[in-house]
Amino acid sequence: MPSPLRGPYAAYKRQASNGEDAELTHVERGSPCGEYLRRFWQPVALSADLKDLPVRIRIMGEDLVLFRDLRGRTGLLELHCCHRRSSLEFGKICESGIRCAYHGWQYDVDGRILDTPGEPVRSKIKENVFQGAYPTREFEGIVFAYMGPPDRMPEFPLYDLYEKPGTRLVPVKVHSPCNWLQVRENEMDPMHITFLHTRIFGTQFAEVFRPVPTLEFIETPVGMMYITTRRWKDGKVYIRSNDMVLPNLARVAGIEDAEGDKEILFDRRNGGTNWIVPIDNENCWTIGWDDEEKLVGVPGLDAYIDRSVRENARPTGAFDVGQTGEPSYEQRQRAPGDWDVWVSQGRITRHDQENLAHSDGGVAMYRKLVRRGIRAVAEGRDPKGWAGTNGQVRRTYSHNSVVFLPEESDPETDARQRAEMARKLTDRILQGEIRPYVEQRTSDARPTVDA
Ligand SMILES: [Fe+2]
Repeated sequence: MPSPLRGPYAAYKRQASNGEDAELTHVERGSPCGEYLRRFWQPVALSADLKDLPVRIRIMGEDLVLFRDLRGRTGLLELHCCHRRSSLEFGKICESGIRCAYHGWQYDVDGRILDTPGEPVRSKIKENVFQGAYPTREFEGIVFAYMGPPDRMPEFPLYDLYEKPGTRLVPVKVHSPCNWLQVRENEMDPMHITFLHTRIFGTQFAEVFRPVPTLEFIETPVGMMYITTRRWKDGKVYIRSNDMVLPNLARVAGIEDAEGDKEILFDRRNGGTNWIVPIDNENCWTIGWDDEEKLVGVPGLDAYIDRSVRENARPTGAFDVGQTGEPSYEQRQRAPGDWDVWVSQGRITRHDQENLAHSDGGVAMYRKLVRRGIRAVAEGRDPKGWAGTNGQVRRTYSHNSVVFLPEESDPETDARQRAEMARKLTDRILQGEIRPYVEQRTSDARPTVDA
């Protein structure tokens, strides 16, 4: 008997789902994934969100109030006042901390009570009661918080992404009404670029993304990355890799085309860096930065970049087309983007109703790494990516590269040779042999990477 799932018109006989993959998707305090994500500094808001009023936010299912006091310090406190539970979103921001609207109790950014004006002078409340608080840190226009156990607080990680001369990091924040994982794992699904972004609805990405790529997924010192290659004209091969930095940070390479007559290695201009932070199990933020770089004037590189395409498509500070739910429903049906494919999976997608295929190797690997981290925390160990580097900048590896490699007549042989060449290039990048941005050769130079 063939499985009812394999026959035509199988909907009626399909088994009901066993439910959500709660280990990977549920994020409340005490949940396995929630405890895992809480071991890392997470972005919770943009600095620009903080004006003269407190801001009510929800992160990983916790209701909180975020504010900047008059001394300029950011504070992240439990939303409800520890006195009579009124919301501190109605509090008054003070020189130090925030004062509850109801009875005027004043809390410092670390949750200590500074004042209980209606209580007797000898009251010991200030010594015995604390408002729940989390440590915060502001960096490049984003407010980060550490919401895990205090004795496991890691150092605030610095990545080489922040050290790019001539680059402005433009903070961005977008809401998706769905579970964090289905948004995040899209980044390890490079095959969708060819179909969603290039072939099916016209070209959201450059033409170079039209060919089906070779795919490889590898672990890196900070997480994992994909390696894709596409055959391009004039004997060129276009290589693109994105980083996944565990647990939920992605470095997205630029989406430029591969025009021009230069071989370019480890180009990481005009990309983006973002975290997917759960608001709760059914909502998440994308918070991060878009790189804004003025490239046209860079000698020798202008042929590689078609700035006009990108500038027209994306006003400064906004995500790329298709990254939000802003277009009308009909517009999104006629030209859907990333936001539509991950939100439409449902509030929490059902993994037992998927059929992962060869091209989903990156999704499967990312889930495996997240699960490994979750179980490490559950078993009392520190997860990968948690350990500090004593203030040293952490290296990342995402890039675009264009390499000359003569085309083989047999497509399978050509694909194999491209993949091997790209793997060698990637190994050199991982080993630090190639520095970002600067390496380029003209077409008459010998290929830098031997196939
Ligand atoms: Fe996409």
